[in-house]
Amino acid sequence: MYKIAVIPGDGTGPEVTAEAVKVLKTAADKFNFKVDLAEFDFGGERYKRTGETLPEAGVEELRQFDSILLGAIGHPDVAPGILEKGILLKARFELDQYINLRPVKLFPGVETPLKDKGPDDIDYVVVRENTGDLYTGTGGFTMKGTPNEVAVQSAVYTRFLVDRCLKYAFEYARKYGKKARNRGDKNTLALCGKTNVLTYIYDLWERAFNEMGEAEYPDITREYYHVDATCMWMVKNPEWFDVIVTGNMFGDIITDLGAITQGGMGIAAGGNINPEGVSMFEPIGGSAPKYTGKGVINPLAAICAAQMMLNTLGEEEAGDAVEKAVMFVTANKLKSLAAGKMGYSTSEVGDLVAEKVAE
Ligand code: IPM
Ligand code: MN
Repeated sequence: MYKIAVIPGDGTGPEVTAEAVKVLKTAADKFNFKVDLAEFDFGGERYKRTGETLPEAGVEELRQFDSILLGAIGHPDVAPGILEKGILLKARFELDQYINLRPVKLFPGVETPLKDKGPDDIDYVVVRENTGDLYTGTGGFTMKGTPNEVAVQSAVYTRFLVDRCLKYAFEYARKYGKKARNRGDKNTLALCGKTNVLTYIYDLWERAFNEMGEAEYPDITREYYHVDATCMWMVKNPEWFDVIVTGNMFGDIITDLGAITQGGMGIAAGGNINPEGVSMFEPIGGSAPKYTGKGVINPLAAICAAQMMLNTLGEEEAGDAVEKAVMFVTANKLKSLAAGKMGYSTSEVGDLVAEKVAE
């Protein structure tokens, strides 16, 4: 029995979350486990009504669950930053979800903007550190509003934050790496940094990476790429990558690049993971308010978030079945991943996946 908190959120969040829940329940029936779901109304509407984003009491409630499924946060009437900081980033920090796991996997039948690349080429994972770096809010203004105004925002890392992220990445590469082709027969972990300029932050990352790799993971090949070069290779030679580990800010940027190469917002999902605590899974596409209530938004990203949740909870058989079902649907059913162009409604796509999982 798993206790799952569901935060449908804003815009099309509730529509896609309903389909993810449908698939989750089907997988539970099929693979003999139970899910006990509780819904929470954190999001733009609640903020407009009460002024509350994610209150302390809400955080304490969320701590009681095995996992969290999040739809989308973002409301056209609420200034940018308020809900992101108040809900999404607050949950990440308070629940210490120090890993942001973002698979970049092109499913069969899905169009990629990368010329001559297919599902065999685009299949890797980014392990983004999720609690440090420029996201800690360290810094401030002086002389604000004057011509001499100064703004400072510092990238913050400690050896502890770096080591715990690297450990997760090495373990992930050991367990799920795919022996990246043309690179020998060891699984590969690539550090994405900027050691030529960020000579403190990424010096720390690189030393920690090499020390841990040498001492504990001789079975994993280590590679290093600067972040700017990483962007080029993600476009030109994505087949080089297996598992990439990086800091929070670079990770934010390269994972959106990765997402568009796997077909974009209709399919890309991510996990905010605390390996020792409560993790939260989300489609990364946002609330897409203009499609709200029309039944045309693609729920596959939310379904993939549920799949990641299953795998992380240890229900790997169920998670793999959901992924296979999604692949069947992209390969054989959908005309396009884009909202309104799928050839099916939102709930019909959920039905197609659920039927396949139940088979
Ligand atoms: C993401 C998002 C968030 C981030 C925003 C919404 C705060 O872009 O999950 O990648 O920057 O981490
Ligand atoms: Mn992002």
